Amino acid sequence: MKTEFLSEDQTKRAAEILKGGGIVAIPTETVYGLAASVYDKNAIKAIFKAKGRPSDNPLIVHISGLEDIENIVSKIPENAKKLAEKFWPGPLTMIMPKNSKIPKEVTGGLDSVAIRYPANEISRRIISQAGVPLVAPSANISGRPSPTKFEHVVNDLNGKINAVVDGGECAVGLESTVVSMLSDIPKILRPGKISAEDIKKVVGAVEIDKSVFEKPNGFEKILSPGMKYKHYSPKTPIKMVIGDACKYAEFVNTHRNEDIGALCFDEDIPFLKVPYVSYGSVYDTISQSRNLFEALREVDKLDVKILYAHYKEIDSLSLAVYNRLIRAAAFCVISL
Ligand code: TXA
Ligand code: MG
Repeated sequence: MKTEFLSEDQTKRAAEILKGGGIVAIPTETVYGLAASVYDKNAIKAIFKAKGRPSDNPLIVHISGLEDIENIVSKIPENAKKLAEKFWPGPLTMIMPKNSKIPKEVTGGLDSVAIRYPANEISRRIISQAGVPLVAPSANISGRPSPTKFEHVVNDLNGKINAVVDGGECAVGLESTVVSMLSDIPKILRPGKISAEDIKKVVGAVEIDKSVFEKPNGFEKILSPGMKYKHYSPKTPIKMVIGDACKYAEFVNTHRNEDIGALCFDEDIPFLKVPYVSYGSVYDTISQSRNLFEALREVDKLDVKILYAHYKEIDSLSLAVYNRLIRAAAFCVISL
């Protein structure tokens, strides 16, 4: 298939392709998404095929106005109304009970549906011009880092999708916060820019699902199917190393004859005697979020056997970075 490369001014063309049953990668403020009409089962199948995504991993439905929600859910929980008022449009996805119009292919057979109202103007224009809500998983091959630039989408999906819209670099760089609104207390299933504290301030209480921190043990019920799959992995195996700058530099330099590389902070660079890729300043979680996925794509170019990724400490802001990095490292952590 020939993939059309569209500029951000060609949103009408993107909408036309979507209305005709095609699949189109579109920019959002978090990461690029691979979009299709929520009602088009064939296009939805094509998304799963292009990404190599397991069919039980449900998709997020993207809307361009609050009025769209009534056609998607059977009930809007009170807390969801409050969170929508505060954070939408923006990088928050809420899981609510689905209604019968939403095909089961969208939700991987679940009775709930994930909804997001993106802030990015280009994505909102495409959803409005398509005239239907759009499903859009991240526009990467399953298991690879999510795409934050046009080039990342092209590298993964050129020739497999109908079109990709170039919206430049994504402002946030990590996927949306996913929060389940199915019980009275909202539960974070995937951390993102909107933090637990942000949510707590609006609704009074919030929980964070265990799967955010831990490897699923295979016995418990997984609330967010996406959390059980391998994620964000470069080809080079990664181990996450937690410790201060001195200990980290000493650790990687000790292993320097073993064909290793560093995924590090800017401040580590002067002390390293091994090849490296940095993912931002240790003091700037916003830039770490924006750079992480690109850095995870760059590390394979170092052509090393193993990569030691530096992480300092978990705080509420960096939980989203931690969650992605520990999955990229397949939960292998070395504490110094
Ligand atoms: O920022 C984002 O959310 C991006 C952009 C494109 O909007 N999209 C995205 O989609 O990250 P995806 O498919 O890569 O991740 C969606 C996550 C998966 O972990 C999936 O299992 C979970 O949301 N999810 C979707 N529907 C769900 C549901 N009904 N219940 C539980 N988890 C759900
Ligand atoms: Mg994804």
